[in-house]
Amino acid sequence: MKAAVMGYGTIGSGVVEILEKNKDSIKNKAGEPIEVKYVLDIRDFSGDPIADKIVKDYSIIAQDPEISIVVETMGGVEPAYTFVKAMLEAGKHVATSNKALVADKGAELIALAREKQVNFLFEASVGGGIPIIRPINSCLTGDVIEEITGILNGTTNYMMTQMAEEGLEFDDVLKDAQAKGYAEKDPTADIEGHDACRKIAILTSLVCGQQVDFSDIHTEGITKISATDIKYAKAMGYAIKLLATSKKVGDTYMAMVAPHLLPVSHPLYTVNDVFNAIYVRGNMLGPAMFYGSGAGKLPTASAVVADMVDMAKHVDKNILLQWRPEKLELRDAGQGESIFFVRTNDAKEKVQEIFGDVKFVEIPEIGGEFGFITPVIKEEEFYKKIENVTTLSIIRVAE
Ligand code: HSE
Repeated sequence: MKAAVMGYGTIGSGVVEILEKNKDSIKNKAGEPIEVKYVLDIRDFSGDPIADKIVKDYSIIAQDPEISIVVETMGGVEPAYTFVKAMLEAGKHVATSNKALVADKGAELIALAREKQVNFLFEASVGGGIPIIRPINSCLTGDVIEEITGILNGTTNYMMTQMAEEGLEFDDVLKDAQAKGYAEKDPTADIEGHDACRKIAILTSLVCGQQVDFSDIHTEGITKISATDIKYAKAMGYAIKLLATSKKVGDTYMAMVAPHLLPVSHPLYTVNDVFNAIYVRGNMLGPAMFYGSGAGKLPTASAVVADMVDMAKHVDKNILLQWRPEKLELRDAGQGESIFFVRTNDAKEKVQEIFGDVKFVEIPEIGGEFGFITPVIKEEEFYKKIENVTTLSIIRVAE
């Protein structure tokens, strides 16, 4: 079976490496060898073993009848979308690690793959090497999924862990993460929560079977978390994590990406460093947890290769994926209920007057301010009330 890899960056080169390193095992599992015939990239890679496989024109791959499987590891919506569409139209199976492409064009590409009786698979687009797309699409189909709560971004989880362990400020931890290659030069997508937002949009689309627009999801990043917030969190026995959540509410879902304070009893409390974890609650199964390497070359490439093997096993068959293009209207996040931790230098009496029965938190070495935790409160009601309080920090508390 001949394959092509579009994009020879970190993940694409990982795919080539795994296909070579695990050649015999992959051959056994796929039923025949999978061999890379082309690598599409604008660079030459002279001296690299794949140098003679480099092509610069995607139509060479699309027009080659020998190619049955194409991997897309370029990232971004364009030109990946144009190339992937051309491959599916040419009757080739496509595996991608590209969450931006899947979140934006997933429904359309799944429909096209079905029309052409090929497969468009994207296990690596959420949770890197952690199996989560396939479990949702096959293992958990006996359930109605009532909740997905995940730590879906390794960069920010590393940063939150470092802030907690080293007591450092956000900017210092970001520089460290960039120096170690965990954060990109432009870290916006990770630290503003956009990456986690696309991932929870993909998972929610799969559990509800229709399009969830990531732009509809209330998203807050970690940029406002400070070393002082971490001190309060520690004093209360909490960890701060960027959570991406999706909860079933009636016939729809309510989704959100935001930093949360997690108690020790929370299933995601111990997920540290670059690791990801996804808590899934089904109406029959109850809770399940998926944990592992959510990013990185070989873990992510491993999920892409697993998709390739699945395609080899279903070479003449489209695996049904339910993700209709009709948009799901998510429940407005303002209608949800949360518990909030607030730091303020206002008067305690005023806080009590506005919020009623709150729990105050004071740290002796931090003068001139205090924290308080609200009871469960409707989000829009909280934001209306908090307008009357001077706030230094606001973080939701997970139960
Ligand atoms: N920047 C992403 C992360 C890469 O840190 O999780 C994997 O999608």
